[in-house]
Amino acid sequence: MEEFKISWQSPSNIAIVKYWGKEKNQIPMNPSFSFTLDKSKSITTLIAKPKNQDSENKFFFDGIRNDSFGKKSFLLLEKISKIEPWLHDYSFDIYSKNTFPHSAGIASSASSMSALALCLTSLVEQNSKKKFSLCEFNTLASEYARIGSGSASRSIYPKGSIWGQNTSIANSSNAFAIDWSKEIHPYFLQIQDAIFLVNRNEKSVSSSAGHELMNQHHYRASRIVQANQNLIKLLQALKTGDWNTFVEISEEEALTLHGLMMSSNPGYVLLEGDSIRLVHYIRKLRSEHGLPVCFTIDAGPNIHMLYPSSRATEILDHLKLEFPEYFSEDRIIFDCVGEGPVCVSE
Ligand code: PMV
Repeated sequence: MEEFKISWQSPSNIAIVKYWGKEKNQIPMNPSFSFTLDKSKSITTLIAKPKNQDSENKFFFDGIRNDSFGKKSFLLLEKISKIEPWLHDYSFDIYSKNTFPHSAGIASSASSMSALALCLTSLVEQNSKKKFSLCEFNTLASEYARIGSGSASRSIYPKGSIWGQNTSIANSSNAFAIDWSKEIHPYFLQIQDAIFLVNRNEKSVSSSAGHELMNQHHYRASRIVQANQNLIKLLQALKTGDWNTFVEISEEEALTLHGLMMSSNPGYVLLEGDSIRLVHYIRKLRSEHGLPVCFTIDAGPNIHMLYPSSRATEILDHLKLEFPEYFSEDRIIFDCVGEGPVCVSE
């Protein structure tokens, strides 16, 4: 047994059809689609050392030991060790950092869990003493990432990916995400995502608690039908470059997600005043100025404004006038569709 060291950089993603609600073992209640982001990434190094009596797993964030930040990572290691019991013979040092500030209020679990899952897949590949095909490697990495955090399963692929089974999508699976990069019209590959950081604090109700509330939700059955239908419509729009249908689905999904939260028992509201102001303003830019711009929202108050790069200047000029504080206080992350994870081991 030898020491093994590997580093992967992996991005976050932004869902257009949202995963919301899950069964046991991180099996999604409905299928989802996301764009892989470019700039919001985690960089994770995994060092596996042959275990001795006093070795323990350690987690370092930004180079400083912080085991409480590493809880999700340790849990993922534990779960993968059940599948690959020889991992118990190692102790692990995990070094992780993000390209976005920890307190930005944007979830880091998709990027961090996918980066760690990729490191573990590299270790499993080396232990198997055979070279995995790209498809084998990515499928396994996506499955491990899903076990860490559902939406992380989609971050493994460039550009865009689908996670969750739908009978009319060949190879779609609840266990792992699939690559959808070849099915996206070039118009959508230049989509920009300006993330307005309405509130950088940790949200009051976690995604895990939100998923759980879907188990008993009055709208559960119809939500499953809606997500499946929206996914099929979205894939057609992505293929043909149909922006108007994309806008309809993106905003319907975002508002549905928050509608489901509000109508849970107990209900809760993550949107804030500025979230609503931004939603109205983005719609006004479309209806009154004819600009191609829309929004999506994750499980938090921040607004993701989506628009083609070809119209960025005009759109951002309007926002600078209406929401100047976001520009002057560095409260926007400018991201776009990205190329997926990279192995960065030297
Ligand atoms: O992967 P989780 O458990 O953090 O859930 C994320 C759910 C949403 O971000 C709201 C939607 C999605 O599909 O990413």
